Amino acid sequence: MHRTEPLAKLHDRDGFDCGSEPLNLFLKRTARQHASRGISRTFVLVDEAAPEPKPILGFFALNLCRIQLEALPPHEAKKLPRGVAGVRLGRLAVSKHYHGHGLGKILLVAAMKKFLEISSMAGGIGLFVDAKDQKAKAFYMHFGFVSLPSSELELFLPVATIRGALADEG
Ligand SMILES: CC(C)(COP(=O)(O)OP(=O)(O)OC[C@H]1O[C@@H](n2cnc3c(N)ncnc32)[C@H](O)[C@@H]1OP(=O)(O)O)[C@@H](O)C(=O)NCCC(=O)NCCS
Repeated sequence: MHRTEPLAKLHDRDGFDCGSEPLNLFLKRTARQHASRGISRTFVLVDEAAPEPKPILGFFALNLCRIQLEALPPHEAKKLPRGVAGVRLGRLAVSKHYHGHGLGKILLVAAMKKFLEISSMAGGIGLFVDAKDQKAKAFYMHFGFVSLPSSELELFLPVATIRGALADEG
């Protein structure tokens, strides 16, 4: 049975390899420091029956962000006041041994649920992501993310789309 939980000492960060060294290094060297300094929070997907140190099957990181209205698609921006906030999905990756087995989707759904928890208490117009390349962009667009006019690798998933997707999940 899979479980998403906050990254902690009991997780085997050194054993993780998603095929992208910058993402591996973030998990190994930066993620826990960022959590203790309030910069971002990282959540890992594990097999709940695994013994410690628990192998990390995948992870994602979230942080709060402020949105410039000019960065949004015009039809989204015109309904909003200046100075709105969102949540950035800073990183998301799956262990390369498990690519193509649905774990990326499990992580994205978990990130959407975390977004709704945050936005239920403090607002937030949606999830933002900087896709690292065209392949990653295609993954996010598969789930309804749209490109921002400011940069074609910057993507946005509005809160209404997230609510709809999670309602469909049941
Ligand atoms: C991108 C990544 C997270 C995908 O994870 P994954 O576990 O292989 O993906 P899943 O098996 O959960 O796929 C879920 C769905 O997305 C689709 N999908 C997966 N990768 C895709 C891609 N590159 N383009 C389009 N669709 C894609 C699958 O076909 C599947 O569709 P379905 O639900 O309709 O059957 C993974 O390949 C990875 O970790 N890559 C290295 C790091 C990276 O690029 N991170 C993203 C940017 S920071």
